[in-house]
Amino acid sequence: MDFKKWMTENTKNIDSQLNQYLPEKNAKQIDLYKSMRYSLLSSGKRIRPLLTIASYELYRQDTRLVMPFACALEMVHAYSLIHDDLPAMDNDALRRGKPTNHIVFGEAMAILAGDALLNKAFETVLNFSDSSIAPEQKLQCMQLLASASGSEGMIGGQVVDMFVNEKTQSELEYRHRLKTGALIISACQIGATLGGATHHELNLLTDFAQYLGLAFQIKDDILDCTANEEELGKPINSDQKNDKLTYVSLLGLEESENLLNEYTKKAVRSLHYFGSRGNRLNEIALYLLERKK
Ligand code: IPE
Ligand code: IPE
Ligand code: MG
Ligand code: MG
Ligand code: MG
Repeated sequence: MDFKKWMTENTKNIDSQLNQYLPEKNAKQIDLYKSMRYSLLSSGKRIRPLLTIASYELYRQDTRLVMPFACALEMVHAYSLIHDDLPAMDNDALRRGKPTNHIVFGEAMAILAGDALLNKAFETVLNFSDSSIAPEQKLQCMQLLASASGSEGMIGGQVVDMFVNEKTQSELEYRHRLKTGALIISACQIGATLGGATHHELNLLTDFAQYLGLAFQIKDDILDCTANEEELGKPINSDQKNDKLTYVSLLGLEESENLLNEYTKKAVRSLHYFGSRGNRLNEIALYLLERKK
C-alpha cells in the first residue's frame, strides 16, 4: 500500500478508536469529558500511534491488537500538550489550529483533563485483553509506557526544559531525548514488543527511534521560527518568547538543518537489518523530515 494511503487509513482508524475509548458522557463531569475530547480528538499528526502500528507491522498485520497501546500513547501525548501550553509552562494560546485547552475550559479544567487523559491511557490498555497477547507482553508494554511518560522520560525532559539553564549541545540533546524522544522510542518499542521482536531487533529499533526523536524535536524547533502560523497550527516564535534553549537558538538555522538531515539519515540506516520490511518506518522518517507542521 502506498504511504499516503497507509497514513490516511490508519489515522482514520486511530481517530475512530480514540473516539470510542473516550465517549461523550452526560454526567456531572460533562465539562471534563468535553475538555478531554477537545484536545484528544483535535487534528494532530498521530505520529506516535502510527509509529507503534508501523513497528508492529514489521511482524504482524492484525493491527487490532496494537490499537489500545497506540491510542494510549496518543492520550499521554495529548495530556502533555495540554499541560505544556498552560500559562505556568509555555503559555501558548493556539494548538492544532484551535485555542488551547485552558483558553477554552480554564486552567483548572485543563490541568484536570490532562491528568484524566494520563489515567485513561493506562485504563485503556488495562481493559484490553486478547488471547494473542501474553500477560507478560502487556505488562512489559505498560512498563515502557509508564517510564517513557514519567520522571525518567517526558516529564523529566519537561522539567529540564523549564528549569535547567545550561546552554550546551549535550544538555540540549539530553532534554530533547527525554521530553520528545522518550515517547517516540516507547511507541516503536511497544509496537515491536507486541509483534514479537527479538532482543537484537528491539535494540535496532530503539536506535532508529532515538535518532528519529532527536530529528523530530530539531524539526519542531526549526518550525517554531520558520513556519507559517496558520499552517503550523500553533504560535510561531514561542521558544524565543520563553527564552528556550533550542537547536536553532544554540546552533543557528543552517546547522540545525544539517543535524536534522544527519539524524534522519542515521535513523534510516538503523533500519538496514530489516530490509524492505523497514520501508514503512523509513517513509515515516522522510515524511517527518519534510513536514510543514
Ligand atoms: C508536538 O508534537 C510536541 C512535541 C513533542 C514536539 P507533535 O508535533 O506530534 O504534535 P501533534 O500531535 O501533531 O499536534
Ligand atoms: C514540548 O515541546 C514537548 C512535550 C513534552 C509536550 P514544545 O514545547 O517545543 O512543544 P510545542 O512546540 O509546544 O508543540
Ligand atoms: Mg514546551
Ligand atoms: Mg510548547
Ligand atoms: Mg516546540
